[in-house]
Amino acid sequence: MKALILAGGTGSRMRPITHTAAKQLVPVANKPILFYAIEALVAAGITELGVVVGDTEREIRAAVGDGSRFGARVTYIAQDRPRGLAHAVLVSRDFLADDDFVMYLGDNILVSGITDVVARFRRERPAAGILLTKVADPRQFGVVELSPDGQVVRLTEKPEHPRSDLALVGVYLFSPAVHEAVRSVPVSARGELEITDAVQWLVDHGHTVRPTVVTGYWKDTGNVADTLEVNRTILETLAPEVLGSVDSSSELVGRVRVERGASVVRSRIVGPAVIGANTVVADSYIGPSTSVADDCRITGSELEFSIVLNRSVIDGVGRIEASLIGRDARVRRAGKVPRAHRLVLGDHSNVQIAS
Ligand code: G1P
Repeated sequence: MKALILAGGTGSRMRPITHTAAKQLVPVANKPILFYAIEALVAAGITELGVVVGDTEREIRAAVGDGSRFGARVTYIAQDRPRGLAHAVLVSRDFLADDDFVMYLGDNILVSGITDVVARFRRERPAAGILLTKVADPRQFGVVELSPDGQVVRLTEKPEHPRSDLALVGVYLFSPAVHEAVRSVPVSARGELEITDAVQWLVDHGHTVRPTVVTGYWKDTGNVADTLEVNRTILETLAPEVLGSVDSSSELVGRVRVERGASVVRSRIVGPAVIGANTVVADSYIGPSTSVADDCRITGSELEFSIVLNRSVIDGVGRIEASLIGRDARVRRAGKVPRAHRLVLGDHSNVQIAS
């Protein structure tokens, strides 16, 4: 069995972070979202991975490499632009050959892993296996209607009036029967070849499509709120360890991980939280559900329920909450009078000021 990991797309809902970074490389608990997908696949015994890439190909390649450090072998497959998930299968035909495969959207995280569903698919070999989960607002997803006896009846991509609360999770299992389906579906109203339509095609042509409702937590990390939420969930599974230094006037409470070379000085950190390698936290409070990446400086500040990416500086600014701060960002107290906010914000930045 192979896997196809989708790591293209523009990440429009994650701007400005995604102006300079692929959305699949945004870290949660200081690890790129994409790496969780790769690790879940390898844990399920799948090591031959095709990674479908678009404009951010160079960055994805630099992060994932040949896959050997995950115990996998990676083949990169270029998609000229995001033309839909079924199109990604079309352009991957040579790589996939006639093998069964898992298609995994690189911005999805299934905290419970996929080992069990992969094992079941291998045993039963339906034409396709889909994963479903109940969601509050199905309009943002592919929505699946099941018959009373649990058979897949209808799949609709982002319906205005959803007929069920079961959303398609971005992990699909396919036999080679899907290739005829992706060749047969028309371009959708939003101009893409939809995998949802391809699965519907399989249902309509009498193929077995096996639904599995997953109870394990998952999220489509396409936006900031969801990314903070996934960060919170993953941090709860973090192995607490202090590899850096913590001075005697600091206090660590609960699940806190301090990476190598990091130093915590006159500060209080309440977990779950991770402080990245070579980061300095001084005279500060770091609250629960916070990930600070490598080489940052947090001084005289309070930070909670947030993600801070590499090399950023937060100095003397009071309390920051529910924030995603990009790489090399500087957030500092305005020193001079008049006391005013002085902002240099990238395109599509989003700032809420408390006073
Ligand atoms: C895609 C699929 C959708 C699915 C979702 C899960 O949507 O088209 O059916 O529910 O992934 O992440 P997209 O995120 O590309 O809008």
